[in-house]
Amino acid sequence: MNNKNTLEIDLENVPTHIAIIMDGNGRWAKARFLPRTAGHVAGVEAIRDIVKKCSSLGVKYLTLYAFSTENWNRPKLEVDTLMNLLAKYLRNEAKELHSNNVKVNAIGFTDKLPAKCRVELAKIEDLTKDNTGVNLNLALNYGARADISSAIVKIVNGCKDGSIDIDEIDENTLKNYLSTKSIPDPDLVIRTSGEQRLSNFLLWEVAYAEFYFTSIHWPDFKPEELEKAILAYQGRDRRFGGLK
Ligand code: FPP
Repeated sequence: MNNKNTLEIDLENVPTHIAIIMDGNGRWAKARFLPRTAGHVAGVEAIRDIVKKCSSLGVKYLTLYAFSTENWNRPKLEVDTLMNLLAKYLRNEAKELHSNNVKVNAIGFTDKLPAKCRVELAKIEDLTKDNTGVNLNLALNYGARADISSAIVKIVNGCKDGSIDIDEIDENTLKNYLSTKSIPDPDLVIRTSGEQRLSNFLLWEVAYAEFYFTSIHWPDFKPEELEKAILAYQGRDRRFGGLK
């Protein structure tokens, strides 16, 4: 742990919501001559420490891009491994997350996940529903474009059945039909492993987010790397389109 960084972080200006694209598990494994799946196992370990670090820094929302709507296109063995890891993570970590006051919530089209994942998700969401610490949002079978189109379909249906007045539609209407409706927009988006793109993650919500890219692969993204990202965030001048 780098105490210097800890001391430098301004605890009054910690991002309320950090969203992370956890990239590089495969490359981490390849560099060690391990199967890609070993990278995902190591990736789960990294999650544990980052959630704890967010708790200790007072980050209120942490959203992790764990499985995208496009990830189904990976080889079946890899998809099965990710689903097994997810079910195991939710089962094994439930007690510890609960004791750390973490509230777990899923975003995305979770009805399409295997039954074992849906069961564990329902259990952990129920167990942690009254917790008041970090809100851990797992993006599972999530894609921003699909989320936005599904919101539009619901709004159009609302207009058709008369429950929504077309003249009243504004930005908040759309927000209220997204799977992120009860989550404030991210302040800081982190992507590991060197790529600098959003890959269909929270497209609507990141309008005024700050971005932090690092070449570190996700399994090596230790709490001190999170500190570096927060320090970079604290050096940014956020104007939200206005003037200081
Ligand atoms: C990107 O690495 C990572 C993913 C597609 C999934 C992230 C999943 C985990 C960290 C583990 C499972 C999650 C939970 C919540 C238990 P990549 O495979 O795209 O790496 P590469 O770009 O180096 O190939």
